[in-house]
Amino acid sequence: MNMGLIGTGTVGSGVIFIDQKNGDKLSASAKTPFKLHTLCDLDFSGSAYDLSTYSLTSNWRELVDNPDIDIVVELIGGDEPARTIIETALSKGKHVVTANKLVIAKYGKELFALAKAKGVHLLFEAAVGGAVPIIKPLRSTLLPNHIKGIYGIVNGTTNFILTAMQNQGSGYAEVLKEAQKLGYAEADPTSDVGGFDSLYKLKVLAMVAFGVEVDISDILIEGITDITSKDIEYCKDMGLVIKLLAIGQEREGQLELRVHPVMLAKDHPLAAVNGVYNAIYVIGDAAQDIMFYGRGAGSIPTASSVWADVLDIVNDTTYSVDDLRPVKLRSLDTVMSEYYFRFQVKDKTGVLADIASILARHGISVKNAVQKGLGDDAELVMITHTVSESAKNEALSEINSLSSVSKISGVIRVGI
Ligand code: HSE
Repeated sequence: MNMGLIGTGTVGSGVIFIDQKNGDKLSASAKTPFKLHTLCDLDFSGSAYDLSTYSLTSNWRELVDNPDIDIVVELIGGDEPARTIIETALSKGKHVVTANKLVIAKYGKELFALAKAKGVHLLFEAAVGGAVPIIKPLRSTLLPNHIKGIYGIVNGTTNFILTAMQNQGSGYAEVLKEAQKLGYAEADPTSDVGGFDSLYKLKVLAMVAFGVEVDISDILIEGITDITSKDIEYCKDMGLVIKLLAIGQEREGQLELRVHPVMLAKDHPLAAVNGVYNAIYVIGDAAQDIMFYGRGAGSIPTASSVWADVLDIVNDTTYSVDDLRPVKLRSLDTVMSEYYFRFQVKDKTGVLADIASILARHGISVKNAVQKGLGDDAELVMITHTVSESAKNEALSEINSLSSVSKISGVIRVGI
């Protein structure tokens, strides 16, 4: 079998690195002889590798049209032309391996159906969690389970930022700059810090774990841009750690999908996942709780997952994701969470009573409340018991109109 690689950038160059370093191991692991045959990119001049053993082209159609190529590996990322490349390759009866979370999240359902109709595979282990095996385990080792919940730290950039804020006490903007300098965060960090990268990965995880196709615009999404060093400090004082989580869970027979920051107890396994690492914590009805942990990004780690998919195709040890059923997500209004609130208040008699009475009217019970600072710097920090999204929104809107409250500065969910 012959493999063609489209895109020799970050992950693609990792694929070439592993081919050259572990080629003997790859060949020995394959039941059918195969090789990395053709590379496609617009420019090979900056490559750190000797490419003389490969055919080179700058035209992806030439690679996809080549009858000698059996497996097309798409690693250019983004929407188009990646989607067209994958669709064309599948239409021509070629297996496809991709790391493209966006294409799988947006067009997976149709592309899986096309792959099935053509009798080929479309695999995407590298699309979620980089080197961390999660797609195949959900479709193989964990198949005997009914998956009840999946909780992922699936974005390394935001986890690096939150960890650094936690450890250094620095502010968001300062740490973001450091992350950009170190090459972890992009010049335009919106996709990561706004939660969009995690959103696409969550949609992919939901397809695999729950076998569902959902409307991506129904998924709740909140990024980390509003988290301040004060929130981190108060969170630390309470023995909690903030993580950006991608959550999929069943509640009362309905599925909830959401991406947002969560304050976790320090002893939760996900609380110990720091820096650029990723982890996906899965709860199955049989296996119960299980966690997958490792490097969620990076050239060679992510390429490890690409090669795993290629070997699965070569050895015919694949799984399939072609049984997606459309479902409507549980209404966000009914999603229940405990909350952390931080209110900037006027330090005068009755403020706490005013806030507490609004919360009580909306059935929101306060677990603990503490005043931080004095005078104009006074803040009230509260943790609530479980409250519905709609009750929380109504109460906050009333609290916002109190003359004694100058600002609602922090609103973060607590626990999973
Ligand atoms: N930008 C992603 C992250 C890596 O920071 O985890 C690619 O999915």
